[in-house]
Amino acid sequence: MMETSLQHLLFSCLLVCCINNEVLPAGLTVSPSRSQFFKGDSVSLSCEEDNISAGWTVRRNTTRKTRTQCGDGWGEPAGSSCNINSLYKHETGVYWCVSREGAASSSINLTVSGESVILQSPVLPVMEGDDVTLSCQTKTPSNLPAAFIKDGVIIRTEPAGHMTLHHVTSSDEGLYKCNIGGHGESPSSWISVSGQEVKSAEPSTHE
Ligand SMILES: *[C@@H]1O[C@H](CO)[C@@H](O)[C@H](O)[C@H]1NC(C)=O
Ligand SMILES: *[C@@H]1O[C@H](CO)[C@@H](O)[C@H](O)[C@H]1NC(C)=O
Ligand SMILES: *[C@@H]1O[C@H](CO)[C@@H](O)[C@H](O)[C@H]1NC(C)=O
Repeated sequence: MMETSLQHLLFSCLLVCCINNEVLPAGLTVSPSRSQFFKGDSVSLSCEEDNISAGWTVRRNTTRKTRTQCGDGWGEPAGSSCNINSLYKHETGVYWCVSREGAASSSINLTVSGESVILQSPVLPVMEGDDVTLSCQTKTPSNLPAAFIKDGVIIRTEPAGHMTLHHVTSSDEGLYKCNIGGHGESPSSWISVSGQEVKSAEPSTHE
């Protein structure tokens, strides 16, 4: 009896934690912190670890290969980090951390563009209520007017190429890209908004 309700509690907890995507044991951080890069840019990926002996390493899935580890034909491992000196377009993919025992962190999407415009958007989910600034960038940084497009619809045109979303809510979630006249369009990136606190871990009501 006790055991069953404890299992239920743990299960509800796991559900809540996984949906909210915040309370996972290790996270992957990206430096510089953005989700789109130009071909030839460098990037550093780090597994934020709570326990150094857990041996976190970076993995990725690209269209070419899945589940490859940093150092295995790409990237230079440095402890629980991975450095890529010059990105190629085919390195677009999903990246995550795995511990020696097989635990996985949440994952992030990185997009490498061979074109001339990228959208600088947060790589991690943003907290509900925060302000989020998006920038539309050409290869040589500029402050050109840019159109910002969400889910296929132009939502704003900004004279200096920066757009701030104030007090984001879940309705701001979506697929964003931007366009600079004469230069072209960026790839699309998903922006997700995570709720504030995990409300409670009460066992579910449907019993
Ligand atoms: C750290 O990880 C190692 C290897 O997985 C494990 O044996 C050890 O118990 C962990 N220590 C803590 C404090 O979690
Ligand atoms: C990576 O690819 C494998 C094989 O297709 C898939 O099972 C796994 O879910 C992918 N991982 C992520 C984080 O997308
Ligand atoms: C990564 O990209 C895939 C495919 O576009 C999308 O389904 C997924 O939600 C994205 N994940 C994150 C964490 O943005």
